[in-house]
Amino acid sequence: MNTRTEQLPSQSLSQPTVAKAPGKVILFGEHAVVYSRPAIAVPVTDVSATATITPGEPGSGVWILAADLPAPDGSPGGHCYGLRDAPVDDPLRASVELALDAFRHSEPTGADSPEPDVLVTITSTIPIARGMGSGAAVATAVVRAIGRHFGHTPQPDEISPLVYEVEKLHHGTPSGIDNTVVAYEQPVFFVRGRGITRLSVGASLNLVIADTGVVSSTRKVVGDVRRRWSAEAERYEGLFDEIGAVARLAKSAIERGDPNAVGRLMDENHELLMTLGVSSPELDKLVETARMTGALGAKMSGAGWGGNMLALVEAGRTPTVADALQAAGAASTIFSQIP
Ligand code: PMV
Repeated sequence: MNTRTEQLPSQSLSQPTVAKAPGKVILFGEHAVVYSRPAIAVPVTDVSATATITPGEPGSGVWILAADLPAPDGSPGGHCYGLRDAPVDDPLRASVELALDAFRHSEPTGADSPEPDVLVTITSTIPIARGMGSGAAVATAVVRAIGRHFGHTPQPDEISPLVYEVEKLHHGTPSGIDNTVVAYEQPVFFVRGRGITRLSVGASLNLVIADTGVVSSTRKVVGDVRRRWSAEAERYEGLFDEIGAVARLAKSAIERGDPNAVGRLMDENHELLMTLGVSSPELDKLVETARMTGALGAKMSGAGWGGNMLALVEAGRTPTVADALQAAGAASTIFSQIP
């Protein structure tokens, strides 16, 4: 890909437009959610993606500066490219184009020109390919920032479908849970194809999120589950039903503020994900460590085979559990209180 850093649009004196979006974790129901069972996800505001739109010189077109993200060809972050230099399936290009199509008509002048003259700068503190919704957050931040730049404040129900289109480029056949929880920035009880159900949280949930350090491809894990489901549909449908039942019980436990029950259900969900074949020795070790250190419950989160696990912890015990997870090999830990 051609990176024409020397031709960057020079910044005008106009104010840049900045928008953010949070990370997320799936508390219950990953994988089964692809097969229309319910799942629960919550935003994680301790990490975020930020998009900044800076007006450029007339005629410069759209430039993307992705400071922390890999390039479309997979090379490490820190690259800058013209919109049309990127492949059409580049998620950043797609995010920008979808947002321009949706919101640029409200631009007072210049809407007839082929491209607006802007620099879209994206930064993110969300670990990539670890089940924390980095792709959905980046796309949400870009859509929000471009909407605002053109004088419109995009609402979650406008953002979410656009981000879903970008998620398809990342994952192939996403359930839609990531774009929903990130665009709405609220805990959600999600069933594919149905409207969003916001989840009220009866008592705060203290989560320690620990990264195995193992990068995992959601597309690969979801594809593997699909192959096994095609070969043994009855068995896998049964497992998905069990996971869905756990998610329903978890919804009630979260709403009535019963962390002990939520923790037990996390343990049950992890066992089912192990049976589904999507956990890994690294995830199981961290889950076991969290339980031994007094967590109320623990499970892997997201697609699996790597990425993050979650431990539900009583408020005063978070440092102890986080230290134990680091000692057991976690690459990093994040503490998040929901809501
Ligand atoms: O790893 P993540 O956070 O992208 O989550 C994948 C969740 C799955 O249920 C496995 C797939 C999906 O599209 O819901």
